[in-house]
Amino acid sequence: MGKKTKIGRNALCPCKSGKKYKSCCLDSQNNNLHLKEEYQKKYNIILKEPYQIDGIKKSGKLLLSIMDEVENLLAPGLKTDDINTFVHEKIIKANAVPATLNYRGFPKSVCVSVNDVICHGIPGNLILKDGDIVNIDITPILNGFYADASKTFFVGTPTKDGQKIVNIARESLRRGIEIVKPNATLGDIGFAIQSYAEAQNCSVVRDFVGHGVGVKFHEPPQVPHFGEKDRGLKLVQGMVFTIEPMINLGKKDLYILKDKWTAVTNDGSLSAQFEQTILVTETGYESLTPFDL
Ligand code: MF3
Ligand code: CO
Ligand code: CO
Repeated sequence: MGKKTKIGRNALCPCKSGKKYKSCCLDSQNNNLHLKEEYQKKYNIILKEPYQIDGIKKSGKLLLSIMDEVENLLAPGLKTDDINTFVHEKIIKANAVPATLNYRGFPKSVCVSVNDVICHGIPGNLILKDGDIVNIDITPILNGFYADASKTFFVGTPTKDGQKIVNIARESLRRGIEIVKPNATLGDIGFAIQSYAEAQNCSVVRDFVGHGVGVKFHEPPQVPHFGEKDRGLKLVQGMVFTIEPMINLGKKDLYILKDKWTAVTNDGSLSAQFEQTILVTETGYESLTPFDL
């Protein structure tokens, strides 16, 4: 947790009105201005304005419509690169841009992560087979606004292990989202996820975290999927960030393939993930990429 910087009552109001704090924004409805300023200055967090929220929501709608179409394509025999071609074309047709393409050298327009691949799987010549689990992570930029969400699907008939890890990953996200409201902390989110997943004898990946999103792909803050209650940054209205727990059936350790992206479980166990883009509202949260969990 960062140090609290208290604004003196007689100090100049940080809203730049030129008035004293006590006769301007202190305890007024304008307090949001202070939060905006404080979160920007201290944490580099952009609290979103209504027009930005609207833009992210529209990007999220596009994302989810593509996700549904991809789900219908999935079948044994499908090549992961065919998923990339499909997602790429849908995003372009909607006058949007795939955020992952050429992002820090990532070569494709969607992440496709199969079985023991935790995340950042690069679509290629791999052919899906019966019983696989596959995470599809889609990130359109529409009119400059980023939405980020993923789901893990079954290919053909699910295995017992596949069912188990997918259900636990889905429930992990559900529990994480449920915590979100003003004055809850990032630690509360991590705790809700970690305590649940570990009680199921699964593990939470540490090396990748959720993140602020909307105006850029990866904004502050980082959102760990593990943690302790009452620790970490306090959530405030207007924050937009992803929650995207990666849950392994075995141990949490991973390695990265020579392609510099693909993250794989060290012990070869299955890994599943669900992700949504979440807005902190006045009373709780709203998903900007809503789907049932
Ligand atoms: N969509 C991923 C996330 O949830 C990021 C993928 S970055 C990439 O944050 F370069 F691997 F595509
Ligand atoms: Co993300
Ligand atoms: Co994502």
